[in-house]
Parts: sequence; C-alpha cells; structure tokens
Amino acid sequence: MPKFNRDGFTTTFGVLVATLGSAIGLGNIWKFPSLTGTNGGASFLLVYLAATLLVGLPVMIAETMLGRAARANAVTSFEILASRQPQWKAIGWMGFAAALLIMAFYSEVAGWVYAYVFKAVSGEISTVDPKVAGAAFGKLVSSPLTVLAWQWVVLALTGGIIMVGVSRGIEAVTRRLVPLLFVLLLVLCVRSLMLDGAGRGLAFLFQPDFSKITPAVALTALGLAFFKLSLGMGTMLTYGSYFRDDQNIPWTAARVMLADLSVSLLAGIAIFPAVFTFGFAPSAGPSLVFMTIPAVFTSMPGGVVFMTIFFFITAIASVGAILSLLEVPAAILSERYGLSRKTAALATVAAIALLGVPASLSQSVMENVKLFGLNPFDLFDYLSSNVLLPLGGILICLFVGWVYGFEKTEKSLSNNGELNNRGLIKAAFFLISFVAPLAIAIVLLNGLKLI
Ligand code: PHE
Repeated sequence: MPKFNRDGFTTTFGVLVATLGSAIGLGNIWKFPSLTGTNGGASFLLVYLAATLLVGLPVMIAETMLGRAARANAVTSFEILASRQPQWKAIGWMGFAAALLIMAFYSEVAGWVYAYVFKAVSGEISTVDPKVAGAAFGKLVSSPLTVLAWQWVVLALTGGIIMVGVSRGIEAVTRRLVPLLFVLLLVLCVRSLMLDGAGRGLAFLFQPDFSKITPAVALTALGLAFFKLSLGMGTMLTYGSYFRDDQNIPWTAARVMLADLSVSLLAGIAIFPAVFTFGFAPSAGPSLVFMTIPAVFTSMPGGVVFMTIFFFITAIASVGAILSLLEVPAAILSERYGLSRKTAALATVAAIALLGVPASLSQSVMENVKLFGLNPFDLFDYLSSNVLLPLGGILICLFVGWVYGFEKTEKSLSNNGELNNRGLIKAAFFLISFVAPLAIAIVLLNGLKLI
C-alpha cells in the first residue's frame, strides 16, 4: 500500500499545541463541570481520574503511535499495519461514525457559546440570579432557528479552516489560542475562591461520597475520559499520523493529559464555589456553565469585559476540538476516495449539518422525540461517549497488544532506539494490552447493564 504524500505538523511545539487544542474544548469547560455536578461531585472526579490515568493515557499513547507508524487516516492505517487482518479497519469506520455523532451536538453547544459572546456584550446575562440566568439560557435554546443558525456559523467557520489544511489551518489557529485560555481560567478561579460559598464548592468537588458511585456513573466517567482526551475514535490516530518522526510520543501524551486535566480542574474550581454562593443547582446539567460563569463575572469589577473575553476564548477553544473531529472523516474521504481536501471537508460538514438538526431541536420542537428515553441530543452524546469511544478504545488496545505486538511498539515509542525509555514502554505496553481493555470491558458491560 503506497504511503500518502501528506501535509503534517511542522514543529514539535506545533504538534503539542494542536494535540492539546484537540483535547481541550467544551469537554473541559462545559461537559466536565456539568457531569461532575449531576453525578455526585468528588466521587465522580475520582473515578474520572482513575479512568484518565489507567485507560486514557495508555490509549492516547497507543493511538498516536499507530497513526505515526502508518501515516494514514484512521481506516487505511489499520490496513497498512495489519494487511492480513483487514477487519481491524472497522475501528476507523466506527470513528468516522462517532465523529459525525459527536459533531452533531458539539457544534450546537459551540453555537450556544458563540451566542453567549454577544449576550455577554449586551448585558443580558449579567446576573447572579438563578432564575434570570435560567430564563436567558432557556430563551436561546428554545428558539429553533436561532440555535440552528449559530450551529451553521460554527460549521462554516471550522469547515473553512479544515479546507486550508493541516499545518497552515489547524496548527496556525490553535497555537495562538490555547495559552490564553489558561490565563482567563486562572482569573475566574481567583475570583471564585473569594466568594462566600467557596468552601462548600470545594468540598463538593474534592470530598468524595463513595456511595454515589454506581456502574452507570462509572461508565459516564470513563466515557468522559475518552471524550475529553479525544480518544477511541481515530482523532489521536489521525493527529499522530501528522507527528514528526522525532516526536517523543509518551511524553507528548503525558503532557497533553496533564494540561487537559488542569483545565478541567480550573473550570471546576471556577464554577462550583459560585454554584453554592448564588444558589444554583449543581445538577443543572448542560446549562450549568452558561448560568454560573456569568454569575461569577457579574460579581466582580469589570465583569462584562472579562465575561465577553471568556466566552470568546471558549468559542475559540471549541474550534481546536472541532477541527480534530472534522479531520477524521475528512482524511478518510480524501485519502480513500481521492476527493480533494475541499470536497472532503464540504461533504463532512454537510453530513453534520443534517445530523445536527435533530440535535439542535432537542431543546425545542423535538424535545419529546425520544429513543431509549433520550432526545436526539442526549442520544448522540450517550451513543458516542458511552458506547462507541470505549468500544473503540478496547479494540485499539487489543490491536496494539495482540496484533502490533511489543517489538514494534518498542521500536515506535523509542523512535527506533533513539529514546532511552524501555522501562516506560514496558509499563505502557502492559497497561495497553491487559489493564486498559479489561477495565474498559468491565465498566462498559456493567454500565450498559449487560452483566
Ligand atoms: N476532546 C474534545 C473536548 O474536550 C472533544 C473531542 C472528542 C474532540 C473526541 C475530538 C474527538 O472538547
């Protein structure tokens, strides 16, 4: 199979930032706080941490390694790496499906964020009153045309960047934005920690009540770990395929994992003190961030300015993640079917725009259209995060552990012997071949009530 003549990331720093840009996004700022809030706080955080370390990190190393070794899209990579067992390419097709499902609701939430930039400027959300904040959020999500329009703005913008290409498009955009996000989150945290309810907020986030851990909660935490680190669906594999040959993969993965974790914790520290100070419900769900963050800003001098910048940067942080989601189908379509990058990006965005309609209407006209008790928005989220990503994760681990094997893994992860990291590789290989797939299988089967 010929290798493709491809674009790639140009500098080691660029690789790190683009990978970080994929990991850090609405998963950290929107999903992490709302799931932590609805699933019991600290105990959820603990399970999430275990999932990140024991499963997330090894899977991230495995995925990027496969991508760099094959230097192809998520489907073709498996044909290149195991030409006699082409059935493994199903992992890539599952990733293709997961990318579309995730994008259908992710682009909607990103649209809410874009809308909030303007709401921040207008002063509409400058309130610490849960009722007023709830009404403002409700007004936005219940107007079908407004949400759809914002979703299409998001798709048009990110689709445009994807058309431009990997190094000029993705790398150029993300490297400028990720550092800014850290700074603003820090400002938010400092302010939040000075609020009256800071103690209660921190206790909620850091004092575990183990009775709250059920199989369903464990699966949600595992799914979140996959989602936040962009794993189990070929994103990291595709990005790995653009890595340079001298990139230190385990080290890059560890740094991305740590940075991603810190952004989530910062978001949690910014949000939960405000929840308890102003009387929001920790279990508010998807609206949590959209109500509490404005409240924290409103309670401080210069709040409107900071609030506007915050939503602006969150909008931009979502771009890095969306680019990496679009890249999976776009790379598959262009490399396998000879479509130009432009056509591939357009086709992907068009498919998502269609699938995005039911997601966007889930808070209004399609509120009561349910399958398995879930509206389209929740269904797409559940299917992708709690089913497809963990399943993809198991298969990737099994592929590396039992098909690709230790010898090639060692060669790949040591950059052909140039890095002196044999002990580390052995540990990673053990996690990848035994611990991670077993842990995922147990949590998945229990969480889905199959055992
Ligand atoms: N990791 C991204 C976030 O936290 C979302 C994402 C999931 C991106 C899967 C790519 C693949 O926002």
